[in-house]
Amino acid sequence: MGEIAAGIVHELNQPLTAALSYNQAALRLIRQQQVQEVPPLLDATVVQIKRISDLLLQFRQKLTREQRELQPVNLNQIWLRVVMLLEKELRSGKITIINKIPETLPDLLADPLWIEQILHNILANAIQAQQQNQLGSGWVAIKADQSDNGVSLTISDGGPGLSTQALQEVFMPFFTTRPDGLGLGMALTETLVQRLNGNIKVDNIKGQGACFTLWFPLNPQEL
Ligand SMILES: Nc1ncnc2c1ncn2[C@@H]1O[C@H](COP(=O)(O)OP(=O)(O)OP(=O)(O)O)[C@@H](O)[C@H]1O
Ligand SMILES: [Mg+2]
Repeated sequence: MGEIAAGIVHELNQPLTAALSYNQAALRLIRQQQVQEVPPLLDATVVQIKRISDLLLQFRQKLTREQRELQPVNLNQIWLRVVMLLEKELRSGKITIINKIPETLPDLLADPLWIEQILHNILANAIQAQQQNQLGSGWVAIKADQSDNGVSLTISDGGPGLSTQALQEVFMPFFTTRPDGLGLGMALTETLVQRLNGNIKVDNIKGQGACFTLWFPLNPQEL
């Protein structure tokens, strides 16, 4: 399977599954005559379907080798959007989000969809890693700081952390320890980070879970 095709399968799977389940929930409520609870579910479906359309446009641009436009990206805004996109998973895992992105953080020059995909893949993994946690004990924390001519970012979680093998192979395509995983999330994430001239590392925090550290230049073109 080509790299682009594998990327399409991976990135479209989550929003498609989400849209389907919001729609099924809406249908159920209509059948139970609880119509007043339906609009937020349909709004959530619209957001996920628009995301599918954005991702497809991105893949089309990749196939035609069209340049994507870099624009100022507010990290906090994208993080809030990613939390909203994964709201259902966060709610069913009763996972707490700890947001320590300072308001004074400068914007990055980037493609907002790339930053969204990077954060989405990391948050989805952090949620999945905490499925065995006692319900209500899960958390994901994001911290950001300005450093040199860039922004550094850490995302940590309250899961079991990565095994010794996973620490070495997490960014390799098709490495997975999940029965339904493709093993592509972190490989795609690393590619996107590198395309922005940034870097990504992973480690475990003692007594806690995984900790991903990322760095992005404020302006990738100046490097
Ligand atoms: N936050 C985390 N905590 C513990 N293990 C993690 C975490 N993030 C990643 N991993 C490990 O790294 C592996 C690879 O992650 P990756 O996102 O690339 O693939 P995946 O989640 O298994 O499948 P998918 O292609 O659906 O994303 C995971 O299977 C898991 O073993
Ligand atoms: Mg993953």
